[in-house]
Amino acid sequence: MPPAAQARLLLEMFVPARPFLKWAGGKGQLLPELSSRLPAHFRRYHEPFVGGGAFFFHLANLGRLRHGAVLSDFNDELIGCYTVVRDEVEALIEALQQHAPHFNDPAYFLEIRSWDRQPGFHQRSPVEKAARTIFLNRTCYNGLYRLNNKGQFNAPFGYYKNPLICDPVNTRAVSAALKDVELLVGDFASVLDRTRSGDFVYFDPPYVPVSATASFTHYTGQSFGDNEQRRLTEVFARLVERGCHVMLSNSHTELARSLYEHHAIAYRDIVLASRKINCDGKKRGVVEELIVCSYVPGSAVAGGLTGDGRPKTGAEALTIDD
Ligand SMILES: C[S@@+](CC[C@H](N)C(=O)[O-])C[C@H]1O[C@@H](n2cnc3c(N)ncnc32)[C@H](O)[C@@H]1O
Repeated sequence: MPPAAQARLLLEMFVPARPFLKWAGGKGQLLPELSSRLPAHFRRYHEPFVGGGAFFFHLANLGRLRHGAVLSDFNDELIGCYTVVRDEVEALIEALQQHAPHFNDPAYFLEIRSWDRQPGFHQRSPVEKAARTIFLNRTCYNGLYRLNNKGQFNAPFGYYKNPLICDPVNTRAVSAALKDVELLVGDFASVLDRTRSGDFVYFDPPYVPVSATASFTHYTGQSFGDNEQRRLTEVFARLVERGCHVMLSNSHTELARSLYEHHAIAYRDIVLASRKINCDGKKRGVVEELIVCSYVPGSAVAGGLTGDGRPKTGAEALTIDD
């Protein structure tokens, strides 16, 4: 193997993969909290609200995904990017390198942004579309993913001094981390079609808003309201009944607390995180986040605990006390 290729292979083996998109609700700062609450053992990993995938990359870097992983999200443009990074990484890097010199040109930004308003958009290749999404994500205001009611991207230009459009080393590391990963577009409930006993599911849904105006739950042009949060609680309980290990994070609000008070929960904790506290993305504050698990962290037992501390059986784990 030529020395340059050898050096690249070595780099790919040792460079940890990091999220390649800025994504609202990214879990970067909660990684130690989430990591310390993993089940001791698990089979396949499932993340049905993958977004920027911070926790997935962390687990991949730790070598915890030996039994495979399935990543999914409602957002087909997002999953399209993951698929291109996995399957066509060199072509993607080339396409990004062509966008990169135009990072501070608002007219170029608007031209690339307008592709999804043009008739030929669907004929563009997956590589072209993924490079566009990554370029817009890096150069738009605050990395905001925002669509108008026609499903067209409409976040404004961000005026960054030196945004990193193309990071070949990380892009290749991400591609390697995704190599055997299944990528799917769909609603979170479809996780029920592909999980079995011993699998680990991590849910990081759009958060219950801490106040009526505080949060951003429109990642896909569709809102994620109280009914969706309730539906998620039911999916959580069904997975526990099946013998899966389930972890979920959410904002620490009255609704989230009440939804996860009785449902097959063996462990619940509140951690602190610094978050955007309004939709302009500039104001940050310390907020409380809720982490719930269907298992006692570090234990291999799926399902919750009974009142006397005994691990629940599948049927018991489904009992709702009120
Ligand atoms: C809080 S973000 C996930 C953040 C992610 N953990 C990270 O580290 O970047 C929530 C994700 O849920 C996705 N989503 C919203 N509604 C969904 C649904 N019904 N089913 C599946 N995914 C959905 C959004 O597209 C968004 O990517």
